[in-house]
Amino acid sequence: MTDRNQTKESPEKKAAGIYAASLVKNGDAVGLGTGSTVAYTIRELGRRVREENLQIKGVVTSYQSEAIAIEAGVPLTSLAETPKLDIAIDGADQFDKNLIAIKGGGGAHTREKIVSMSASRFVIVSDPGKKADVLSAAVPIEVMPFGKELVMDSLKKLGGTPALRAAVKKDGPVITDNGNFVIDCNFGEIKNPKELAKEISQIPGVVEHGIFMNVTETVIGKADGSVEVIQK
Ligand code: 5RP
Repeated sequence: MTDRNQTKESPEKKAAGIYAASLVKNGDAVGLGTGSTVAYTIRELGRRVREENLQIKGVVTSYQSEAIAIEAGVPLTSLAETPKLDIAIDGADQFDKNLIAIKGGGGAHTREKIVSMSASRFVIVSDPGKKADVLSAAVPIEVMPFGKELVMDSLKKLGGTPALRAAVKKDGPVITDNGNFVIDCNFGEIKNPKELAKEISQIPGVVEHGIFMNVTETVIGKADGSVEVIQK
């Protein structure tokens, strides 16, 4: 799991983030994910807008990506105005060889899923530590506060160990940008992520889970500034 308080530069994340910005073309509508890796992409897109006169419009997935995009000077739009996106770029907590990803370390996965599903191309930017043979990261699940008990109980019945995500510098749970809670559920090794995704979705009170099956390519940054690109 990502260190959410990471403040120091990561050359791996930077390499991936900056490379992904080069995939964006003039005229594109771009989904802008959340997290420390895609923050490099958003800032690089801002540089391209300023220095290369790149004409793009971004759709943000969180208050965090909105603030970074505004500071970087990336023009923004909404899904209401621009429902079809050319490309979405985002980070991940883990992904496997089939490019199934677990996301939501920042609690933004519901909007990230809506935005990425609105895009023709969905690029994950990552450092090498996120790649796994078998997915085993805890799955973030956004839940309506009213349904928390039923969701926790149902997740246990699915073999998981759920934990309500606690806030930092606030007593009590994390509240998402949508006003909900997040449950991180550990399932150990996830042998069949597709089936698990379906089962979690069926629990009443679940707003969205962090299993993503719509990734089209992954950019893994290396410390020397090079990248490995894996296409689906
Ligand atoms: C936010 C996410 C992030 O993209 C994911 O947690 C990766 O973050 P980082 O790039 O900081 O490692 O899913 O909800």
